[in-house]
Amino acid sequence: MDVSTAVNIRPAVEEDRDAIWNIFHEIVAAGDTYAFDPQMSREDALAYWFRADTHTYVAEQLRHASRAEGRHLVGTYILRPNQSGAGSHVANAAFMVAPNARGRGIGRAMGEHCLSEARRLGFHAMQFNFVVSTNETAIRLWKQLGFEIVGTLPGAFRHPQKGYVDVYVMFRSLL
Ligand SMILES: CC(C)(COP(=O)(O)OP(=O)(O)OC[C@H]1O[C@@H](n2cnc3c(N)ncnc32)[C@H](O)[C@@H]1OP(=O)(O)O)[C@@H](O)C(=O)NCCC(=O)NCCS
Repeated sequence: MDVSTAVNIRPAVEEDRDAIWNIFHEIVAAGDTYAFDPQMSREDALAYWFRADTHTYVAEQLRHASRAEGRHLVGTYILRPNQSGAGSHVANAAFMVAPNARGRGIGRAMGEHCLSEARRLGFHAMQFNFVVSTNETAIRLWKQLGFEIVGTLPGAFRHPQKGYVDVYVMFRSLL
């Protein structure tokens, strides 16, 4: 399927909260990609995802190509300043695609959308602070989108199956 026509990425609204939580919960409970508490509550998760300084987006896809009303959420991402004050011109972002919707280009479409939104909002660069080194899908995608590994945090993530693994800081200019 041509994902560019099948996926619509838009700002999140209140009605998206349940679907966002379902995706968030499944990913965080797995515990292998984000350093969130796997037991994190719905309230805490949504407070983080909809923080005041945060732009929150969703990717929706047609359930059946012929039924426009059948759209459902398959991914979500956030875009925010990585630091406050004198560091606020560098963006940070985080991405989540529903496990059953992976490998269809939704992560890539959200990544490209995010870079475009970050430029529109005037950010000079984007930084990912905590990319788990075993997350090969994400690392390959971020490299394809122009990010470089600029630092390695040795053993900074306790992987549920692999034990202590390295974490990468990834960065790309938007200028
Ligand atoms: C990382 C993530 C956002 C990618 O989303 P996605 O929709 O699956 O990615 P895409 O379909 O756009 O594919 C991106 C690349 O990964 C590859 N890929 C996707 N799923 C894969 C899989 N299960 N195994 C191997 N490669 C895979 C794709 O082939 C593509 O690479 P290619 O174009 O060179 O072939 C998604 O896997 C995810 O939400 N993971 C859990 C949370 C996470 O890790 N977030 C990022 C933290 S830094």
